[in-house]
Amino acid sequence: MNFHGTASRMGSVKVKPSINGPLSENAWGGDNMNVYVDILLLLLTIIYSYLEAFVKLFIPVKRKSVNGEIVLITGAGHGIGKITALKFAQLESVLVLWDINKSGLEQTAKECRDIGTKVYTYVVDCSKREAINAAADKVKQEVGDVNILINNAGIVFCADVLTLQDSQIEKIFEVNILAHFWTTRAFLPSMISNNHGHIVTVASSAGLVGVPYLVDYCSTKFAAVGYHKALTAELDAIQKSEIKTTCLCPVFVNTGFVQNASTRFSPNLEPEDVASKLVDGILTNKKMVLIPPVVSFTPVLEFYLPERALKALNKFSDIKFDAKVQCYDKNK
Ligand SMILES: NC(=O)c1ccc[n+]([C@@H]2O[C@H](COP(=O)([O-])OP(=O)(O)OC[C@H]3O[C@@H](n4cnc5c(N)ncnc54)[C@H](O)[C@@H]3O)[C@@H](O)[C@H]2O)c1
Ligand SMILES: *[C@@H]1O[C@H](CO)[C@@H](O)[C@H](O)[C@H]1NC(C)=O
Ligand SMILES: *[C@@H]1O[C@H](CO)[C@@H](O)[C@H](O)[C@H]1NC(C)=O
Repeated sequence: MNFHGTASRMGSVKVKPSINGPLSENAWGGDNMNVYVDILLLLLTIIYSYLEAFVKLFIPVKRKSVNGEIVLITGAGHGIGKITALKFAQLESVLVLWDINKSGLEQTAKECRDIGTKVYTYVVDCSKREAINAAADKVKQEVGDVNILINNAGIVFCADVLTLQDSQIEKIFEVNILAHFWTTRAFLPSMISNNHGHIVTVASSAGLVGVPYLVDYCSTKFAAVGYHKALTAELDAIQKSEIKTTCLCPVFVNTGFVQNASTRFSPNLEPEDVASKLVDGILTNKKMVLIPPVVSFTPVLEFYLPERALKALNKFSDIKFDAKVQCYDKNK
């Protein structure tokens, strides 16, 4: 697991990722002589981390204060983003709300102001890099350093891979994943210099399992999960572990995002419930917020179940939603 990377600007720098935990500091030498020592240290760290996790079960989890923190939420005009904004308003954060839809955005802002918090709104099309960069510059001037960045804006098309238009495929990647790069690159530098911050990725259970007629969407959500995991690893590698990360993966949520969605696997979620769990995950620095938690088994099942069993399970779970499927519009 020892790998090498190069960091530009400083010439060639060897990057050694280390495993968390008090026993593992600098445990990874490249030296063959030390490999047995390294394995021993790794095993001890694993055992230690289990003990630590066990002890933590009995200690109430501390929720951090976000009072006065600057929280930026993309796609805050409707659905999960909107309710998440209202929750941070109750926690007395300063809100920076972005959405492409002005009327939805102003409605959310009004409801947050009614709670009594300071709110800044920006109409931003998150599919456009220039628009994101321009808005980010304004936020830095008019509000300050963003402490919590929540990349929530997302779109979906629900069609088979041949029915999708070229422009839709490009758009969904721009909004659902590329935007995460532009916002992170705008706001991470101040988080690094303050050694304080939190980057939240709203992905989906469709980022853990492949779903027919959502090939474009699943691709972007797998990318979002990968983005979160690699960014988390990178923040650890550059020793900025005070910058936290959280990734949200829910099944269908009743926001009107996907029409007539249902599955036997789990009832549809309410946006109120999803936003509650997301905010709780942020306040407790949880890395992954899976709703319901059993969605964590889906990738495991995909790896280990025989093909026939997997197909039967997919059939049983009976995922349905309105999609445009070539040659006919069917309710699938
Ligand atoms: N609803 C679900 O079933 C579900 C399930 C899993 C994950 N998610 C994810 O949760 C996130 C929020 O979904 P939701 O259900 O609240 O959707 P929603 O449609 O209710 O809200 C999304 C918001 O994003 C905004 N938006 C869309 N394109 C934008 C753009 N280019 N620039 C700026 N804002 C834009 C919309 O105007 C809207 O206000 C999305 O990333 C979605 O993929 C949703
Ligand atoms: C914008 O938001 C308003 C209020 O939520 C909604 O009624 C309208 O349909 C939205 N417009 C678009 C284009 O999504
Ligand atoms: C699907 O949803 C639309 C409105 O969103 C509704 O008019 C229609 O009847 C629904 N279809 C089914 C099969 O539920």
